[in-house]
Amino acid sequence: MATIRLESVYKAYSAKQIVVNNINLTIDKGEFCVIVGPSGCGKSTLLRMIAGLEEISAGELYIDDKRMTETASSERGIAMVFQNYALYPHMTVEENMGFALKMAKMPTDEVKRYVAAAAKSLQLEDLLLRRPAALSGGQRQRVAIGRAIVRKPGVFLFDEPLSNLDAGLRAQMRLEIGRLHREFENVATVYVTHDQVEAMTLADKIVLLNSGESVNKYGSVAQIGTPLELYESPRNKFTASFIGSPRMNFLPAKVVSVHADHVEVKLPGGETLAVNVNGERLTCAEDVTVGIRPEHISLQKEDGPNSLVRSVHFVEQLGDATCLYFEGDFTAKLNGYHQYAYYSEIRLHLPAECCHLFDSSDQACPRLLNATAHMETTAH
Ligand SMILES: Nc1ncnc2c1ncn2[C@@H]1O[C@H](COP(=O)(O)OP(=O)(O)O)[C@@H](O)[C@H]1O
Ligand SMILES: [Mg+2]
Repeated sequence: MATIRLESVYKAYSAKQIVVNNINLTIDKGEFCVIVGPSGCGKSTLLRMIAGLEEISAGELYIDDKRMTETASSERGIAMVFQNYALYPHMTVEENMGFALKMAKMPTDEVKRYVAAAAKSLQLEDLLLRRPAALSGGQRQRVAIGRAIVRKPGVFLFDEPLSNLDAGLRAQMRLEIGRLHREFENVATVYVTHDQVEAMTLADKIVLLNSGESVNKYGSVAQIGTPLELYESPRNKFTASFIGSPRMNFLPAKVVSVHADHVEVKLPGGETLAVNVNGERLTCAEDVTVGIRPEHISLQKEDGPNSLVRSVHFVEQLGDATCLYFEGDFTAKLNGYHQYAYYSEIRLHLPAECCHLFDSSDQACPRLLNATAHMETTAH
C-alpha cells in the first residue's frame, strides 16, 4: 500500500509569505506520522497539499512512488477527516458514510456491506438512520472517521480531528484512532494536531514544525523523530520547549570548561553545573542555556554537586505528583505528595546526565546519554 514522499515542498500564499518551508519527509506504509506545532505554523497547509486541496508551490509529492504533485485530489487514494466533521446535514449516518462509494458507482448492496463493516468497527450500528443533528460531537466525529475508512484508502489524513471534543472523549477517541490505524495494516496515516500529548501517544514518527518566532524558520521542520527521540534528545531549544509538560526549564549560563565527558557551566547566581554533553563545539565563556525537565529534578538534603537553592512560589498537588513553581519561571515535578510553605527555600538536584545544553544559537550539544544511568536517576 501507500508510502508518501515529500521532496523540498514549499507553499507560499503570496510572494512575501512562505508558510511551508522546504519539507522533506517520507511516511512509510503502516506508519502513523503526526505533524505537530503551534497554531499557524503551516500544519493544515502541509496536510492539504498532500490531500490535493491546496496547490504545491514548489517541490514534489509522491504516493507509492507515483508523482502526484498536480494530481486531482480524487485520484490520490486518500481519505481525509476534518476538525469540523463536514458531514452532510440532510443525509443519515448511513448515507453520509456511503456517499463517496455511491459517487464511485459502487452497487447499492455492496455499499451497504462496506458501510456496515465500518459502522461495526466504530460502534455506529445503532445510529445508521439518524441525521447528524441528532448526534453528539463524539458520534459525529465517529461518522466522519467512518466515512473515511469505508473507502479503504491507502492514506488517512486527519486535521485536528479531536479538537472540538471535551477532554474525556478526546482521550477515548485518541485510543480509537490508534486502534483503527493498527487494524488497517499498511495504511499510511498523517495526523495534524497542536496537542503534544496526542503527538506523543499516537505517533510512530513526529514532525515538529517551527512557528513564526524566527522569520527564516517559519513553516520549516524543527525536528523529525520518534516521540522518545524528541523527548530525550531535542536538537534545538524550540523542540525542547514544545515537547514535554510541564515545559523544560531553561537557565542561562556561561561555559567554564569543556571535558571529554561533560561541560561545566556557571549560572548567574554563581552556582556551577556539570552537564553530560559533548561540548567540543563550545568555547569558554560562551553564553549557553542549560535545559532540565521538571520531572528530572529531585530534592537534595545537603549541599552537593549540581544543586540549586530556590524559593517556592506556588505548589500544585496533582495527587500522584507535586508541581513546585519557583522564582524565575522554574518548575520541578516530584513524585508523590509534598507540602511546602510558600517562599520556603528548597535545595534541588539537577542530575548531570538529565541536563541538556544549548549553544548561543539554540542548537543542542549531543547528549552523552548512558541509558541505564539515565533510567536509574529518573525512575525514583
Ligand atoms: N488560503 C490562505 N490564504 C492565505 N494565507 C493562508 C491561507 N491559509 C492559511 N494561510 C496562512 O498560512 C499560515 C499557516 O496556516 P495553517 O496551515 O492553517 O496553520 P496551522 O494549521 O498550523 O494552524 C497562517 O499564517 C495562515 O494565516
Ligand atoms: Mg490547522
